[in-house]
Amino acid sequence: MVKSIKGEKADLAPKEYIEKLFDGEAENFEHHLVDQLHYCLPKKIGLLAVNLLQHLPVAEGKVALDLGCGTGLIGQALKPWVAEIHGVDLSKKMLDQAKKKEIYSQLVQGDILEFLEENHLNKNYHLITAVDVFVYLGVLEKLFSAVACRLAQAMKSVFLFSVELLEDDQVDYQLLPTGRYAHSLGYLKKLSAEHGFTVSHVEPTSIREERGQPVPGVIMVLNLS
Ligand SMILES: C[S@@+](CC[C@H](N)C(=O)[O-])C[C@H]1O[C@@H](n2cnc3c(N)ncnc32)[C@H](O)[C@@H]1O
Repeated sequence: MVKSIKGEKADLAPKEYIEKLFDGEAENFEHHLVDQLHYCLPKKIGLLAVNLLQHLPVAEGKVALDLGCGTGLIGQALKPWVAEIHGVDLSKKMLDQAKKKEIYSQLVQGDILEFLEENHLNKNYHLITAVDVFVYLGVLEKLFSAVACRLAQAMKSVFLFSVELLEDDQVDYQLLPTGRYAHSLGYLKKLSAEHGFTVSHVEPTSIREERGQPVPGVIMVLNLS
């Protein structure tokens, strides 16, 4: 937070900060975010999933991985379209809430990058989501590389994520005074190309409200090309 206020460079939010923040918010998270701040991404992603996932071969089981799954709102939206879904999150208390939904067949407490790089569930996925999570990670090179390795090579395997939008394409990402990161479309498109993805959908959206104003963002859908 100090770095964000001073405008200093920081590539990632510290894990201890994330864990403490979300452990503290877990019980009230859905009421606060959905009912009070009008968080609309789960609904929009549910609508997108219909089109994205019906093209994947059923025989392969359509296994999804939800990075930063939180209380499971995205799992809930995806569940009708996948056979199995795994979730990973740093916050034990957010995971406790997700568990109650009985949607995820695996829930793992840990850092998303470490989880992808270690692949201890020994799985490749048809869909990997990271929704409202990159607001806590500025630099995304390693994350894109690890996601590309963990996606099944099946046609149309999907990487779906959201970001808060940084309008200035000359800058990759910026830590905002809110303590969250915003990313530019230019950066995300560059990373996509570098890691073998085709950008198949870019949807401008309001992520939620902040002090009564919409927070501008995008949902992006990439396919392994
Ligand atoms: C704003 S919530 C979004 C939760 C869920 N994706 C949704 O859309 O409802 C962000 C979640 O990402 C998790 N998170 C942030 N950085 C993480 C990291 N590096 N590794 C694992 N989880 C992380 C937080 O603990 C939190 O549960």
